[in-house]
Amino acid sequence: MRVGVDYYPEHWDKSLWAADADLMKQTGVKLVRMAEFAWCRLEPRDGVFDFSWLDEAVALFADRGIDVVLCTPVSCPPLWLYEKHPDIVHVEKDGTPTRLGIRSHRCVTNPVFLQYADRITIEMAKHYAGNAAVVGWQINNELEAYFCYCGHCIDKYRTWLQEKYGSLENLNRAYGNVVWSGEYSSWAQVTPPFGTLPHAWQNPAYMLDYYRFCSDNVIDFSNRQAAQLRQYCPGRPVTTNVWFCEHMPDFYKQFDGLDFISYDNYPATRLPSDPESCYSHAFHLDMMRGVKRQPFWIMEQLSGGKGCWAPMEKPPLPGMIRGYALQAFAHGADTVVHFRWRTANIGAEMHWHGLLDHSNVPGRRFREFADMCIEANALEKLQGTEIKADVAILFAFDNEYAFRIQPQTDGYYYMEQLQRLHRAFMGLGLNVDIIGQHEKLDGYRIVCAPEMYVTDAGVVERLNEFAMKGGTVILTTRSGVKDRNNNALMTLLPGPYQEMAGVHAVEYAPIGWEAVSVLFGDGTELQAKQWCDVLETDTAEVLASYNGDYYCGAPAITRNACGQGQVYYIGTVGTQPVYDRVAGMAAEKAALPVIAGLPPRVEIVTRTGREASAKFIFNNDDQPKSFVMDGQEISLAPFEMKVVLI
Ligand code: GLA
Ligand code: ZN
Repeated sequence: MRVGVDYYPEHWDKSLWAADADLMKQTGVKLVRMAEFAWCRLEPRDGVFDFSWLDEAVALFADRGIDVVLCTPVSCPPLWLYEKHPDIVHVEKDGTPTRLGIRSHRCVTNPVFLQYADRITIEMAKHYAGNAAVVGWQINNELEAYFCYCGHCIDKYRTWLQEKYGSLENLNRAYGNVVWSGEYSSWAQVTPPFGTLPHAWQNPAYMLDYYRFCSDNVIDFSNRQAAQLRQYCPGRPVTTNVWFCEHMPDFYKQFDGLDFISYDNYPATRLPSDPESCYSHAFHLDMMRGVKRQPFWIMEQLSGGKGCWAPMEKPPLPGMIRGYALQAFAHGADTVVHFRWRTANIGAEMHWHGLLDHSNVPGRRFREFADMCIEANALEKLQGTEIKADVAILFAFDNEYAFRIQPQTDGYYYMEQLQRLHRAFMGLGLNVDIIGQHEKLDGYRIVCAPEMYVTDAGVVERLNEFAMKGGTVILTTRSGVKDRNNNALMTLLPGPYQEMAGVHAVEYAPIGWEAVSVLFGDGTELQAKQWCDVLETDTAEVLASYNGDYYCGAPAITRNACGQGQVYYIGTVGTQPVYDRVAGMAAEKAALPVIAGLPPRVEIVTRTGREASAKFIFNNDDQPKSFVMDGQEISLAPFEMKVVLI
């Protein structure tokens, strides 16, 4: 398991480079990532390339046995390029071109920008093709499926719609454009959602397609870059670094075209006092592993206090640097690259701290990093071990987009129920996969399919089959609501899931910030909020009913026998204990090997291999923990990770 750092030779006087590389080697750093923002130094004038300084830096690392990942620097075109071609900028929703000054101002659809991006990418790829120290490529930096309102994006969007629908008539029908006299009578009337009004005021069918288009558009760009890198610098794996941003591309589609996934991981340094908060990044890590169902990289890992985009925050607490890096390894990362080696002394991000502070004097965080490097390097024997999960949670970008377009009720977020289910199963000591909804379900015992809002008939069929053959499915409210176009289905909810769930809703109450209690058969009362389906059972048994409000007594959570399997339906948004309870019931019925009595915020991942297997036991809390597992007392300091060979 390999540790790296993000390094910016162009930010430092050359006299520092060799000492930096020496200290990296001595510390156990095995990889550096460089150059994602360095276009102005790599092509200082139009068509004039200068790779000499980067060659020097690469050589310093190569001499010390440190591998290099280079990036295509296309997120930050140099100012000479903007001056020559001012129209390559991204255009804002009010139709005005973005003002220069920060970064990522370019539009990835603009043909002139693409010519220049192609050229620098191909030049770099050719230049480093023969350099064995360059072991991989990162495309751009944090590519987002942002909305751009330039003429090129509008034209491409119209073409995308023409290919999808063939005719305006089909498009009008799919979107239900008759509402508010919105029917298009020419393609020229089709525009992106200009203006600052909330997107919920727009037609949801149109908006969902617009999100999908923006995702496809940015994926075209990453595929284009990947093809160039593969052609001119063959044999090096290609990735791009993603994060959970407002405009996420569909990672499942995007990484179909790339070799491995990499993720920028910045867990919070201030622990929330609210016990409901799902602050653990275990969810994100499991989701990253699930994108390609392969080991992944962290391309940027928390190293110091965050700042600059917002006022400065607490630095990582003692134990966090080590604990969070090992947490990423535990969940399937095979490389963790820390952002950044040293805090910048120049530029807008000077308060986003790296491993070393402005002073360049190694301190507490650096010493902890150095200890972690030793430990990570010693985990070599667990490289290649697998995380086999009995439990999966399905994720869909259509749902992510659709819930952003139409927020359901106050405080309702798509990811929240997924995170609570994840936390509930992790709390039982089980491995959990988070996978795309189109993935095969073979091998799982329990599949959580939360908030299956935008319906995909194939997915419904697969879930049904999975249950019929003996699997357990956990469905939740807001499932089967929309068709693929994001129009409402004319059916009782949960729509096409009704038969497998054996239950239907006669009404629903979006209760926002209000709360209502749900009463389980054994008299336990737990809290729910945000949403209440008022259910009537068809064939299901009632596990819990509402104990308040006008629908008092109506079923809230049910279980149905479906073929040889079971289907749970959670008709409300529960607080964490609701999911803990349902997960506990489902795991018990499926006879999964749960670990009883794990204290809160203790996370266990089991990795199995032919040579060696281990349990990674992590205390994701600032309080010490102890518990008994397999008759053995386990004590953990704050943020301690114990790797127990099994
Ligand atoms: C992101 C970016 C980095 C840097 C960090 C810290 O992850 O990829 O370039 O800006 O955030 O702000
Ligand atoms: Zn554009």
